[in-house]
Amino acid sequence: MTTSECRVCAGTVVEFCDFGKQPLSNAFVRPGAPDEEYTFRLAVGACAACSMVQLLEEVPPERMFHAGYPYLSSGSAGMRRHFRDFAEHLLAVELLADEGLVVELGCNDGVMLHRIAEAGVRHLGVEPSRDVAERARARGIDVWTEFFDTDLAARIRAERGPAKVIYAANTLCHIPSAPAILDGVRDLLAPGGIFVFEDPYFADIVAQTSYDQIYDEHFFYFTATSVARMAERHGLELVDVEHLDVHGGELRYTLARTGERPIASAVGEVRAAENRTLPAGPDELRSFQAAVDTSRRELVGTLRTLHSRGARIAGYGATAKSSTVLNYCEIGPALVPFITDSTPSKQGRLTPGSHIPVCPPSQFAARAPDHTLLLAWNHADEIVANERAYRAAGGRWIRYVPRVRVS
Ligand code: SAH
Ligand code: TYD
Ligand code: ZN
Repeated sequence: MTTSECRVCAGTVVEFCDFGKQPLSNAFVRPGAPDEEYTFRLAVGACAACSMVQLLEEVPPERMFHAGYPYLSSGSAGMRRHFRDFAEHLLAVELLADEGLVVELGCNDGVMLHRIAEAGVRHLGVEPSRDVAERARARGIDVWTEFFDTDLAARIRAERGPAKVIYAANTLCHIPSAPAILDGVRDLLAPGGIFVFEDPYFADIVAQTSYDQIYDEHFFYFTATSVARMAERHGLELVDVEHLDVHGGELRYTLARTGERPIASAVGEVRAAENRTLPAGPDELRSFQAAVDTSRRELVGTLRTLHSRGARIAGYGATAKSSTVLNYCEIGPALVPFITDSTPSKQGRLTPGSHIPVCPPSQFAARAPDHTLLLAWNHADEIVANERAYRAAGGRWIRYVPRVRVS
């Protein structure tokens, strides 16, 4: 068991769950590539002082987010709908009265901002990964290919003026220097402006044992309690919180400069629920590791039994999440010979560490597996509906969140 210094309050982070050496979750490998894969120790702990859950070891951002970063935010109909709805909400509620500026951190391929751009609203995307930023630019979005930090916040303010809305989806939790970034956000906000961000909710991860949310890119695992405390240290206040069903359960947090906006009742309600239900600290959280190991035993047992009966098994969705599951459970091509994924830059590659070939969706129908491990379980409704023919022909899905089951 190890400790580290809390990135929020400099208190002591005490480890409660360890996955050992892991590769980078989006570092898909070229077949035959001689390069050794970069690994780091994936372990997660909680700060005894401020309760923030975080990784014990951090990966340099440039190793994860670079020109060839493969994740595309527009890769599912469900997420396209989610971001369009949020853009419509901003246009209807926050951006009516004036010429507000919207800044998005980690805008990826422009899945949210394209609607804002289309409406003629002033905007700026900040996206360090070049290829995905290019995709956003091709849709008419103004993007800076940079990492957001306090210096960049000052540059944006100098060149574009203050922001009415700053938004970050699945991005703030990726940034170990998030606390410092909050200073930049505070100074970039226009009076009455808001910073809205959404990330996987730690309470959902515990409740569902969805340990696959724990990987290199996810440095922080937020709760309303830990976010409210972090915000206070930077002159910001948690004024609203909303539970989202996307990505296996997230919270959307709204911060404003202290005293500038009324605090919605949801904030107190969610914090009270966390007090009642979440394990209080690292000692109590150790039961999470036991739940993870039970899940691993059940999944590996199920796959081995099916394999020994001669079943043909495949995986669906070469997700970043699946990296932790495949590597921690030591599932490789002997058990799961291929994974289908719609992302062009993942196809023809091998999954990081576990080295399972990634194939285009056409291969899924052609190779007709008997059982398919649903690695993109957060998109289950969409995938199961799209693959009705597979199920109708007798194919079965294997899920592992919240429990292992075949159906
Ligand atoms: N917002 C999108 C993308 C999430 S993936 C969505 O919800 O689907 C996280 C994105 O954050 C990546 O595209 C990555 O390149 C970007 N990112 C990482 N660090 C960043 C930083 N410091 N500033 C801005 N973007 C960053
Ligand atoms: P996602 O679960 O959104 O994220 P992460 O990589 O952060 O865990 O990734 C979904 C992956 O699944 C993405 O690689 C695209 C793929 N996918 C398909 O191949 N087919 C589909 O129908 C859907 C919805 C996703
Ligand atoms: Zn702390």
